[in-house]
Amino acid sequence: MSKIRSVIRGVGSYLPEKVMTNDDLASFVDTSDEWIRKRTGISRRHIAAEGELTSDLGYHAAVRALGNAGIDASEVDLIIMATTTPDNTFPATATKLQSKLGLSGCAAFDIQAVCTGFIYALAQADNMLRLGQARTALVVGAEIYSRILDWEDRGTCVLFGDGAGAVVLRAEESNGAEHPRGVLSTTLGADGAYYDMLYVDGGPATTGTAGYVRMQGQDVFRQAVHRMSETVTKVLADQGLGLDDLDWLIPHQANLRIIEQVGRKLGIDRDRVVVTLQEHANTSAATIPLALTHGVERQLFKPGDVLGMTAMGGGFSWGAALIRW
Ligand code: UT7
Repeated sequence: MSKIRSVIRGVGSYLPEKVMTNDDLASFVDTSDEWIRKRTGISRRHIAAEGELTSDLGYHAAVRALGNAGIDASEVDLIIMATTTPDNTFPATATKLQSKLGLSGCAAFDIQAVCTGFIYALAQADNMLRLGQARTALVVGAEIYSRILDWEDRGTCVLFGDGAGAVVLRAEESNGAEHPRGVLSTTLGADGAYYDMLYVDGGPATTGTAGYVRMQGQDVFRQAVHRMSETVTKVLADQGLGLDDLDWLIPHQANLRIIEQVGRKLGIDRDRVVVTLQEHANTSAATIPLALTHGVERQLFKPGDVLGMTAMGGGFSWGAALIRW
C-alpha cells in the first residue's frame, strides 16, 4: 500500500564568524578552560555579530539546506522555525525568514519548545506533510543565546552559543517499499511543574524585558538523561524496533556527560553517537540540525540507517524522532 512519508532531502547549518574560546571566557568570568572541558566537553562557542539576527542565522542555514537538497526556494510551501530567541516578540521569525527567501503566501510560524524546539518543529512538519497540507517544508532551528545570557553567571554563560541548522523535508510516496525512507515516528512531551528549573527571568507579560537564562543545572542534567533515553526507546518501540536497531544517535548537544550517559543507557557504541558540542556549545533548538549536518557532510549515514534524534529542555519539554536515512 502506498503511504506518504516525510523524507529529509537536504540539510544545512550556519555558525557566526566570531569564536569565543573557553580561555576568552575565563578572561572576564571566574571559570577555566579545564573546568568547562571536564564538566561539559565544550571548547568554544560562536557569537553573532552586532546587528546579526536569528533570522539571518536561519536564512544562511536554510539556503545551504535548499542547496544540499537541490530544491529551489520557490518550492517551499511550509516554514517552521524553532527558536527561543526570536528577532522580535512578534511576528514569528519564520515570516522574516520567509521574506528573506523571497517567498510569500505559504504558512510560516515559530515553535517555542526551547532545546526540544527542533524535534517539536520536525514533528509538526511531518504531520502536516503526511496530511497533505504541504509538500516541501523548511524546518529550521536558529538561536542567538548570547543575547539572553547573564555574562556574570558562570553557571550558565559558559554553556551556550549561537547557531542555526535546517532541513528540507519533502512528502514522498513510499510506493509499498518494505523499509521506506523518512520520518518513522515522533514523540513529544512536557511537564510545566519544572518551569522554574530552566527559564528566562523576563518576558513581555512579566518584566517587559527579554531577561536572562536561569538554571538549576543538576536537576536539568538528571531529567535530560532520563527523558532523552526514554524517548528514543519509545520511538523505536512505536515501530516494533529495539535498541539493537538504532544505527545512529543524534542527541541534543548540551553536555558531553549527558550524551555519554544517554548513550550508555541505550547501549549504543560511542562512535555511533554524533557529538559536535565541543565546536559550538549548546545552541538550543539548533543543536540537532547542526549535528545532523555534521554527520551528512562526513557521510556517516548510509541509506537504510535508523537515526534517533532526542532532546530535552526548558518547560521541561522533551521529544524524539526516528528517521530511516
Ligand atoms: O539543554 C538543556 C539545558 N541545559 C543542560 O542540559 C545543562 C544541564 N546541567 C549541566 O550540564 C551541569 O549541571 C552543569 C555543567 C551546569 C554544572 O556541572 P556540575 O558538574 O553539575 O557542577 P555543579 O553545579 O555541581 O558545580 C560544581 C562546582 C561548584 O563549586 P563548589 O560548590 O563545588 O565549590 C560550582 O560553583 O563547580 C562550580 N562551577 C564552576 N566552576 C568553574 C559552576 N560553574 C562553573 C564554571 N567554572 N563555569
